[in-house]
Amino acid sequence: MRTLITNGTIVTADGSYQADILVDGETIALIGRDLAAGGVTADETIEAAGRYVIPGGIDAHTHMELPFGGTFAKDTFFTGTRAAAFGGTTTIVDFAVQSKGKSLREGLDTWHAKAQDNAVVDYGFHMIMSDVNDQSLAEMDQLVAEGVPDFKLFTAYPGVFFSDDGAIFRAMQQTAKNGGLIMMHAENGLAIDVVAADQVAAGHTDPYYHGVARYPIFEGEATNRVIRLAEAAGVPVYIVHMSARDALNELRAARDRGVRAFAETCPQYLFLTLDDLGHGFEGAKFVCSPPLRPADHAEELWTGLVKDDLQVVSTDHCPFDFHGQKELGRGDFRKIPNGLPAVEDRVDLLHDGGAVGGRFTKERWVEVISTAPAKMFGLYPKKGAIAVGSDADLVVYDPNARRTISATTHHMDVDYSCYEGRVVQGRSDVVLSRGSVVVRNGEFAGRAGHGQFVKRAPADFARQN
Ligand code: URP
Ligand code: ZN
Ligand code: ZN
Repeated sequence: MRTLITNGTIVTADGSYQADILVDGETIALIGRDLAAGGVTADETIEAAGRYVIPGGIDAHTHMELPFGGTFAKDTFFTGTRAAAFGGTTTIVDFAVQSKGKSLREGLDTWHAKAQDNAVVDYGFHMIMSDVNDQSLAEMDQLVAEGVPDFKLFTAYPGVFFSDDGAIFRAMQQTAKNGGLIMMHAENGLAIDVVAADQVAAGHTDPYYHGVARYPIFEGEATNRVIRLAEAAGVPVYIVHMSARDALNELRAARDRGVRAFAETCPQYLFLTLDDLGHGFEGAKFVCSPPLRPADHAEELWTGLVKDDLQVVSTDHCPFDFHGQKELGRGDFRKIPNGLPAVEDRVDLLHDGGAVGGRFTKERWVEVISTAPAKMFGLYPKKGAIAVGSDADLVVYDPNARRTISATTHHMDVDYSCYEGRVVQGRSDVVLSRGSVVVRNGEFAGRAGHGQFVKRAPADFARQN
């Protein structure tokens, strides 16, 4: 199958230009002006005049079917990757989970089974380590060899995913040997639990107090601590879902002294605020960790993206229905499952708030939603690029279309939207995954099982800093 995409404006992290793209099979075969006039033929032509052609979005932080708080994140690999495709994302990197007392292998196998035959677009895995011991440390090397080179550890969630400093340091030492990358959820979970218990004892049980209890300084402290541990181990470190100015300042300071410290933020920390956690129990829709912050933190995060102290925007997509799931925490915010739906909205939100909003260029937009995560997580230039030989993961994107985000029209399997009623400028019209159209003008054209596991090599962080 050969597909010709004509007359679009190709937008990459490096620049923009007018050209046609010939897709042959699963990859980009040719890029040039007026290809048809030059004798190039194709089975299908997609006219892209007046629109951008961008590399498909890469969401490097999702949780399909994550077990959390006695329930499971609602999207499966089918519904979640279908929603991703509607939103212009053609690769996700999801977190496989090592349960306490179990091996990494069991966790990874479980996640392969969930994704295989179900995913609509390509996927990779990071590994959540909940139990650092001699066996799981040794298993890390095997996972790196299998294309799963990143390991998420937590200074939050005591009793669940939490690791102490010694465990984190041991895992970092292991990546010094095997080339893997440690990803850190950096909040001081032990201190948070003290404040959260105090709040509940004082009768403050509403979702708003989830935000109050998780002080920004607890994120700043943990961020500094894990970066210092990484420095001591001589390894790069990647901070996930950064939300607070306090944490960003620690990251900046580390980068200024030459540390290979990297981070992502998420749309919720750029567009939503602590106030969204108000309004009684409705605020449960916005409970995630780290929590939403006062608006001035968001402005700092935008600056962090502009200046490349923050390299990536991922979603931390982890959807729970308001009815039946978030409701588990009525009367005690500590029991609300943590996480928000976002995989479908990230590309448009960042286009609207970043490129249209004048905070950064359309090229930087492509960088934070696609190219930077591709480089960070060993996918580049197979993905995150428009180049001959790259996978034909392409989005024909209308930068002028306006749409209203709503749970009544989104494709995520969750009963609310955090962005209900928000109008965004920009829309993915045609989405190709390895040369196959998976979404065309609002209609699903893909299939479960088209998405393949992508084996990733460790990225070369010495050159990225
Ligand atoms: O609230 C969140 N972030 N839920 C998902 C688990 C995590 O910490 O990433
Ligand atoms: Zn986390
Ligand atoms: Zn997460």
